Amino acid sequence: MNITTTTEKLEGLKSDLLILPLTKDGSLSPALRAFDKSVNAIIYRAFSGKDFSGARGETLLLLPEAANHKRILLLGLGAKKEFSTDKIREIFSNTIIYFKKTKLKNIIVATEYLVTKSITAESATQAAAESLLLSNYQFTEYKTKPKETEARFEPDTLTFSVDTKANAKSTEKGARRGQVIAEAVNYTRGLANHPGNVMTPEKLADAALTLAREHKLKVKVLGKEEMQKLGMGAILAVNQGSALPPKFIILEHKGRGGTPTVLVGKGITFDSGGISIKPSKQMDEMKFDMCGAATVLGTIKAASELNLPTRIIGLIPATENLPSGSAMRPGDIVKALNGKTIEVYDTDAEGRMILADALSYAKRYKPKMVIDFATLTGAIIQALGMEYAGSFTNDQKLDAKLKTASAASGERVWQLPLAPEYREKVKSEIADVHNTGRSTGGGAIRAALFLEEFVDFPWIHLDIAGVAWTNEPKPYRPKGATGFGVRLMIEFLK
Ligand code: BES
Ligand code: MN
Ligand code: ZN
Repeated sequence: MNITTTTEKLEGLKSDLLILPLTKDGSLSPALRAFDKSVNAIIYRAFSGKDFSGARGETLLLLPEAANHKRILLLGLGAKKEFSTDKIREIFSNTIIYFKKTKLKNIIVATEYLVTKSITAESATQAAAESLLLSNYQFTEYKTKPKETEARFEPDTLTFSVDTKANAKSTEKGARRGQVIAEAVNYTRGLANHPGNVMTPEKLADAALTLAREHKLKVKVLGKEEMQKLGMGAILAVNQGSALPPKFIILEHKGRGGTPTVLVGKGITFDSGGISIKPSKQMDEMKFDMCGAATVLGTIKAASELNLPTRIIGLIPATENLPSGSAMRPGDIVKALNGKTIEVYDTDAEGRMILADALSYAKRYKPKMVIDFATLTGAIIQALGMEYAGSFTNDQKLDAKLKTASAASGERVWQLPLAPEYREKVKSEIADVHNTGRSTGGGAIRAALFLEEFVDFPWIHLDIAGVAWTNEPKPYRPKGATGFGVRLMIEFLK
């Protein structure tokens, strides 16, 4: 889809659909008053007849007689003082059904009402563009005949109209950022939505190779033998039950060079639990256990397209976790890359094991910081539900930055403690650590404390088990993988 901006007045433009966001007070700006008398009269009637009140998310489709715009969609923004960029994303997701229904070719969005004292033209336009592209996402690759209404629809052009020349540049920047970011999120969703028989460790590695080729990134994929030579005993142990070899993906966005930020993503392409097998109910959802890996790939894609100056290295340990005659057993003791020994209490706590090797590997870069994304524990869902990712960090300055990025991106995080009181709980009696104790409660914290054993750099751990996918459609997030983390990270790295 071609996304553009224009400073041309609305009356000089033509479209199949003009989206006209309006606030609750019903006032029309000078530009809107000048725009079209008959349309103004309809808007006035809509407000006075209570057909439209401007409440947040409300829509009313007008089919004006002679205007240059075949359809005008009034879009309620609510009260201006309750406004935020994430509200813009939520509100704009309500417009999608209109452009899907009639397959409109060109759509214009009037942006003037989106800009407030605290929301710049750039961030407003970015949020609107993100929302439209994210809401329009559908995973249809396995439908041999998608239903008309289900098929994803892409208009040819989406134009953001700007009322003042002063805002033209920043609107243009916002539109481009929004498009790059949303496409990266949709790319992440696309990777994660594939089932386990398709998105195997090798396919995940292929995706990284393709991304590297298209974006001229440095990439390396370690195979099983290289991993054996290096001594990645933890990921190799998890891989033992699988018929498919593991992969360790290393992808680099050079930026302006210097000390890198390392992003680590859990890449379990299917998690059955292994010998400590999971109940079969909803086990299919464990195809999403590589969402962290997909987020790392999507973030690097966007970082590269936006030319972010930061040097970023993505590390993805990828394997399945399956039971078999050769699978790792509860009670096994294995040695991770950093030399620490791990006692396997539960083969279903495999995520922290593969991350142990990846975090140990990160050390060789002397990184500025390391951020890992992992669908790590069911416990984080108990603690925070499906809207907040759990964050853990050994550096509170990083947490402050993460909070700022969270507010701007609308991707919610909540910090939990790396509680020193529980640190003893990850120690094993016969090895250095065990992958989950017999203790109960605080499961997400104990998982984070386990990871901390493999960390000696500034670090954030994001447990995204609750937010990485959704079983019910949410605003701008259809069912399935959400692509969580890409927007947050791009804000964070900016
Ligand atoms: N991939 C799961 C975490 C998960 C569980 C994500 C449910 C989404 C929904 C992880 O590998 C896992 O199985 N964790 C176990 C750890 C336990 C055995 C200590 C869990 O959370 O049950
Ligand atoms: Mn598991
Ligand atoms: Zn898992």
